[in-house]
Amino acid sequence: MKIVVGNFKAELGYTEMKQWLDDFAQTFPKEGIPDTKVILCPSASHIYLTKEKLSGYAVSIGAQNISHIEKGTYTGEVTAASLTDLAEFVIIGHSERRRLFQDRFDRIQDKIDLANKYDLSVILCSEEPERYRGMIYALAYEPSSAIGSGHPMTPEDAAKDMEKIKMSIHASYYLYGGSVDKTSVHSYCAAGFHGVLVGKKTLDPSVFSELVKNA
Ligand code: PGA
Repeated sequence: MKIVVGNFKAELGYTEMKQWLDDFAQTFPKEGIPDTKVILCPSASHIYLTKEKLSGYAVSIGAQNISHIEKGTYTGEVTAASLTDLAEFVIIGHSERRRLFQDRFDRIQDKIDLANKYDLSVILCSEEPERYRGMIYALAYEPSSAIGSGHPMTPEDAAKDMEKIKMSIHASYYLYGGSVDKTSVHSYCAAGFHGVLVGKKTLDPSVFSELVKNA
């Protein structure tokens, strides 16, 4: 099975997301693409909308982050518990969170523990994945120089790095992320990755649909 994760980051407003979902529903087959799992990770405030609009479609829904805190008087936090029944997956440790929002080792480990506790499957983005314990659904190898830069790592080099990573941490799936587009997606899968994590090319629904088909 191939996996394509679409990370919307904080790019779309509510109305834009509604339009995205309407357009995606027009271009993407309801029954999905054979042997390909699509995981859409919209903003937390768009998760319910995504679930409603794509009900009946063969897509899964993930969050882009969760709080490192389980529950309590923490205004504004999106907890793992608050996402159960809404999302199946969660991206943890994305480089943008590590760089800009103090997601360091302890926090990331706390988030993995909470995701495991509340049945959210973890898509871990980490340059040192061997440091973490817990159940990891997918490990995304994302060289920071490749994220959002338009300069992806070559599939061959990325696959070599992935082989080393595989020896240090067990995940069910290994993904590549960083400037993947509809023409390059297949070469990452052919090089040995189970799939990709996509940022920018998620934002146009027809481009994203095509990217999924090309995986
Ligand atoms: P990009 O983002 O596809 O825009 O490089 C990937 C990511 O942030 O994981």
